[in-house]
Amino acid sequence: MNSRHHLGDLELEQKASLLSGHGFWATKPVDAAGIPSIVLADGPHGVRYLPPEADHIGLGSAGPATCFPPAVAVGSSWDPDVAARVGAALGREARALGVSVVLGPGVNIKRTPLCGRNFEYYSEDPLLSGVLGAAHVRALQSEGPGASVKHFAANNQETERMRISAEVDERTLREIYLPAFERVVTEAKPATVMCSYNRVNGVYSAQNRWLLTDVLREEWGFTGAVISDWGAVHDRVAALAAGLDLEMPGNNGASDHQIVEAVVRGDLDPALVDASARRVAALSLLRPSATDNADLDAHHALARELAGECAVLLRNERAVLPLSPTASIAVIGAFATQPRYQGGGSSHITPTRLDSALDALRAQVVAAGGAVVHEPGFTLDGSGDVDALRAAAVEVARTAQVAVVFAGPDQDDSEGFDRETLDLPAGQVELIRAVAVAAPRTVVVLSNGGVVSMEDWHDEVDAILEGWLLGQAGGAALADILLGVINPSGHLAETIPLSLLDTPSYLTFPGEAGRARYGEGVMVGYRYYETVKRPVRYPFGHGLSYTTFMTDGLEVTVTGDDTALATVTVSNTGARAGRHVVQVYVATTAGPVRRPARELRAFKKVMLEPGETRRVELALDRRAFAYYDVETGRWIVAPGQYHIQVGHDAAHIAVEAIVTLPGDVLVRQLSLDSALEEWIKHPVVGPMFIRSLRDSLSNEMREQAEDARDGLRMVASMPLGKFLQFTGIAIAPDSLASMLELGQADIPTDGVKRA
Ligand code: BGC
Repeated sequence: MNSRHHLGDLELEQKASLLSGHGFWATKPVDAAGIPSIVLADGPHGVRYLPPEADHIGLGSAGPATCFPPAVAVGSSWDPDVAARVGAALGREARALGVSVVLGPGVNIKRTPLCGRNFEYYSEDPLLSGVLGAAHVRALQSEGPGASVKHFAANNQETERMRISAEVDERTLREIYLPAFERVVTEAKPATVMCSYNRVNGVYSAQNRWLLTDVLREEWGFTGAVISDWGAVHDRVAALAAGLDLEMPGNNGASDHQIVEAVVRGDLDPALVDASARRVAALSLLRPSATDNADLDAHHALARELAGECAVLLRNERAVLPLSPTASIAVIGAFATQPRYQGGGSSHITPTRLDSALDALRAQVVAAGGAVVHEPGFTLDGSGDVDALRAAAVEVARTAQVAVVFAGPDQDDSEGFDRETLDLPAGQVELIRAVAVAAPRTVVVLSNGGVVSMEDWHDEVDAILEGWLLGQAGGAALADILLGVINPSGHLAETIPLSLLDTPSYLTFPGEAGRARYGEGVMVGYRYYETVKRPVRYPFGHGLSYTTFMTDGLEVTVTGDDTALATVTVSNTGARAGRHVVQVYVATTAGPVRRPARELRAFKKVMLEPGETRRVELALDRRAFAYYDVETGRWIVAPGQYHIQVGHDAAHIAVEAIVTLPGDVLVRQLSLDSALEEWIKHPVVGPMFIRSLRDSLSNEMREQAEDARDGLRMVASMPLGKFLQFTGIAIAPDSLASMLELGQADIPTDGVKRA
């Protein structure tokens, strides 16, 4: 983004003044250069507009705005169109409020189901997170305001979030924690990126030059402004030097002053101040000019429609769902009347309206001649006589044709702290079980920001609808799904494990002594469960529909050294129109690193009428096959076999095809530290080396070598220097020197050579 403002004539102080906020929610104007102040507002699923003078903690004081389904729900839609429509609507509401930058989306990876902010993040998978995040940003920005993709990077827990060091090896960062940001930055060009509070490998994100400059700007070509999470800057001068442009919130100019002093002292390059000031000034071009009002009624209807795309039907025994609108239905649970539809913290929206599932169900059922009775069964604040509440609920369940229990954790998911358990409150578990015994059929509807365990009651109920947090119209959307007005099409964007003990980060979350060691590496979520073959309650990608789909006819065409095209036939074999998610996974053991059993590499959601059949094409790019090679600092496609699998979910593969890719030949520089095997296998030096090794052997050694082929395995990984030293073999010095020279010269600059 190029600023049209001329900063050239400004004083250093004026330029520095652009680099921190005016209070909590605005930037500072520089009248002399015609640079106006702009307003920033949260957040990912609704515009939390606070007047510029409001403070950060005044969470409840924001004016009304549409609360759209939070990211946990949008993730389950597996539909970039859903993410885009949320983004565009936020853009319109922001514009109407005079907001220039909307702080979201959050594309951090769900490393543990306990993270308090998982409800603000899309998925445990980087492709799904990145595709949805990019769609959100593109659509939001097409309405005028800018987005702020956050929290960059490795902000995967709330415990100690302002100082914990996420200790993550580079391959894991590159393959799991960075790609969603990379995709959003390179494909959707967000106006801003927000750095995280935490440290990454010891260095605060706000001061992490590798992250903010080397990777973000130099590798990914980011040209927008980097802003700090609110209060994430520890050393303003170091942060500026690392690439952090705008510090939020402001501190009455104190840090601007530090910047000026550092320049005057000669400790900070003034060109850095210019560059950052230019980037912040450029944001003022996002200032909405005409403030047209957003159509809030239309947005409420949109919130309902989108929520209907997000809920996940996990279980539906004996086709208990959809319910007949002429049935007698016992609606149980406090969440039926007091919806849980968003989480706590900076994303908390004051909704324009709020739909309850009970009202929506009652309206439709009564109109059709059915009956709805309601009993709370429990209270959210724990008040009331638990036994009496449960008994009354069981009583209505007994006489109805079906009971629908609205359950959820007793506490909101929230920013600022992590959850401690996956369990539902014991009282609700008892209620579900008692209702399931009494009612002819039992359906459980869950409202939760993070995964909950179903182990104490799963088998006793007939159907489970995972409603996550669905935004202000979620109640009506749930009623639509329960009654079959909407055919559910959500799929899990995160695994539901059997137990917290099974989760890959169990041993290292939330860390100790200030460090969270990401010891599971790239084995996050389903990558772990599938690799170690650990059973789960519901796998990543799982989701039922009221219709049935069939997948067959997979064809994979190799379209290059490292790309392919998968084409597959999907059919709607049931009686209702429905949306189906085609999930393409790639599985391989190629290359020298441990690969996850399979990884999601492409997906597409398609609408199919009953009986309709379609060929669906999904392109697999180079990245779909690559791993990150830390030695060369490159993405490498190892030559070898790749299984292209189309799955119902990450654990159940419907069809598979195998392709062989020539891939890249990785030629590593030879030195005396290179292993004997590396010398032998080197494409240029190898044959020469074998010859000179042979020539250097005495007759006796040659005979021994013939006899001891197995012994070779023992020394294969020995550095050549050590091998020569141990064996006393003396390769002629000039021949060794020339092989070393060749082994170092014959390398393309990027260390990767095509086969
Ligand atoms: C949160 C951000 C949010 C910012 C402004 C921080 O505490 O981590 O996500 O955008 O506050 O409210």
